[in-house]
Amino acid sequence: MFDALTRQADDPLLALIGLFRKDERPGKVDLGVGVYRDEAGRTPIFRAVKAAEKRLLETQDSKAYVGPEGDLDFLDRLWQLVGGDIVERSHVAGVQTPGGSGALRLAADLIARMGGRGIWLGLPSWPNHAPIFKAAGLNIATYDFFDIPSQSVIFDNLVSALEGAAPGDAVLLHASCHNPTGGVLSEAQWMEIAALVAERGLLPLVDLAYQGLGRGLDQDVAGLRHLLGVVPEALMAVSCSKSFGLYRERTGAIFARTSSSASADRVRSNLAGLARTSYSMPPDHGAAVVRTILGDPELRRDWAEELETMRLRMTGLRRSLAEGLRTRWQSLGAVADQEGMFSMLPLSEAEVMRLRTEHAIYMPSSGRINIAGLKTTEAAEVAGKFTSL
Ligand SMILES: Cc1ncc(COP(=O)(O)O)c(C=O)c1O
Repeated sequence: MFDALTRQADDPLLALIGLFRKDERPGKVDLGVGVYRDEAGRTPIFRAVKAAEKRLLETQDSKAYVGPEGDLDFLDRLWQLVGGDIVERSHVAGVQTPGGSGALRLAADLIARMGGRGIWLGLPSWPNHAPIFKAAGLNIATYDFFDIPSQSVIFDNLVSALEGAAPGDAVLLHASCHNPTGGVLSEAQWMEIAALVAERGLLPLVDLAYQGLGRGLDQDVAGLRHLLGVVPEALMAVSCSKSFGLYRERTGAIFARTSSSASADRVRSNLAGLARTSYSMPPDHGAAVVRTILGDPELRRDWAEELETMRLRMTGLRRSLAEGLRTRWQSLGAVADQEGMFSMLPLSEAEVMRLRTEHAIYMPSSGRINIAGLKTTEAAEVAGKFTSL
């Protein structure tokens, strides 16, 4: 039977990690891998996470199953962080998932089960979006969301996509910190999106993977909260990987904003049922850590403070990098105003390769860079290498 399989292509980012590791040149720079790094190039464990883990180690008295919906206290506290009080709590269904990816897959499975025709996806997007939706059997309609040479969101295209979508179609939206472009939607644009989604009867699926790493914890969900106040139904895929630094603990949740408690109950039972036939129940540890942090004022304050330090490091890096890059590309001054971990530079594949071979600067061939891969002391020098191509 195994001979019937064809070899699948390796993930190009994983291959890049291997090449970077093997490179022995001092001062090599990894702008490829999508994890936060500090000035020393490490992906740190939050102080509050360590403290919560110690507490859990001492107090946890069972490893029995948690339940198909996961940790209910975690879900309540995470929802409060995301949605605040914008929606009546009994109208919100939540299910804990293995990371944001697990939430996206459950969302896609739910859309398929509801008989949804498909989903609209602005490009470029996180490379896993399309494969996850395809795997769930959804049709994907795409439009160009971002113009790389001018570094601007093509808002007209997004509006045309929403106007062309049929009632019941799903629409993928990034809550903030757009991956991979860093492109920002203004408050006025979010209001226009919300009005259109409501008018056309579309189902928004909002991906929230970087809360706190763009403009701030509340600012990064302001557009989403506005949307929730206007539309009767929405799905949200939330990842705790970056905001809590819990990448390998696979921590996240899917939330559905519904229009009644009966509807929320139906959605919840379907999400739990879909999970049951896949991974059954989510892993406990990461959610227990998040629940402990959010439930303790002191840990929560410390977590938010550390997250803010990370955010400020990246906004500083963005400013230094943009300053240098604009000497060759006027439009790249925009990198300073973009948000989150990523930006997409207008580089050819040949230029990406030259940066790797001549300067030991690593990034995927798309030209997407992880801002957090830079050190403050080297940002200007790295910008100089880009502009000298
Ligand atoms: C936009 C976006 N959505 C979802 C995810 C999934 O995150 P997780 O690692 O929690 O599955 C990522 C991870 O990089 C992402 O960038």
